[in-house]
Amino acid sequence: MKTPVLETDRLILRPISLDDAPAIQKHFNNWEIIKYLSKQVPWPYPDDGAEIFIREKALPRMEAGEAYIWAIILKNNADEPIGMIDFTFESKGQSDRGFWLAEPHHKRGLMTEAVSAVNDHVFFECGVKKIVVTNALGNEGSRRVKEKTGAKFLKIVELEHNNGQIKSELWEVTREAWEKIRGTEKMNTPV
Ligand SMILES: CC(C)(COP(=O)(O)OP(=O)(O)OC[C@H]1O[C@@H](n2cnc3c(N)ncnc32)[C@H](O)[C@@H]1OP(=O)(O)O)[C@@H](O)C(=O)NCCC(=O)NCCS
Repeated sequence: MKTPVLETDRLILRPISLDDAPAIQKHFNNWEIIKYLSKQVPWPYPDDGAEIFIREKALPRMEAGEAYIWAIILKNNADEPIGMIDFTFESKGQSDRGFWLAEPHHKRGLMTEAVSAVNDHVFFECGVKKIVVTNALGNEGSRRVKEKTGAKFLKIVELEHNNGQIKSELWEVTREAWEKIRGTEKMNTPV
């Protein structure tokens, strides 16, 4: 199960590689991103954090077929990745997804676009039935992306984040919910 290349109007999602480490390091080493992530992500972020993550975590997980891990590339600036999105195949009974985007590119609808491409692929091509996702309570951007891409709020769970927030919103996205969104979009598309 090789991480596939996915394309949207403005983005290419392609498998992360070690060559991406310098750009990932530059964009990810930012409190505005890391504050919302689990305490498992170190802060201050080490100088070789991206390289170690890609070499020791991302590539082995991709090679083992456990996860798809994409670098997010802007079509009109293909020089470097501006974020990441990953999808983990069912482990402990549930599939999982995570994402972040470089701060200068926030609020342009880019992550909604990336998540939509990943949903299309995992639900319609891989046959996944349900994804379970979380975000720190108060992470409005992540919450809104989820709301726009078919997620249904389930409950609050405990998870320590770098900003001290110990509450996390737990959501599920089902294939049925995503099919409804895609169906509605088609009905709304002028012919
Ligand atoms: C969460 C994140 C990926 C959102 O990416 P994005 O590309 O800015 O999201 P979009 O532009 O697709 O936004 C979707 C909606 O959320 C809204 N939104 C985005 N960021 C927001 C913010 N910080 N506060 C409030 N609303 C926000 C957008 O306005 C848009 O709403 P609309 O369509 O109703 O106008 C980005 O903010 C990020 O990388 N944050 C830090 C890392 C992180 O939190 N990762 C997720 C961990 S669970």
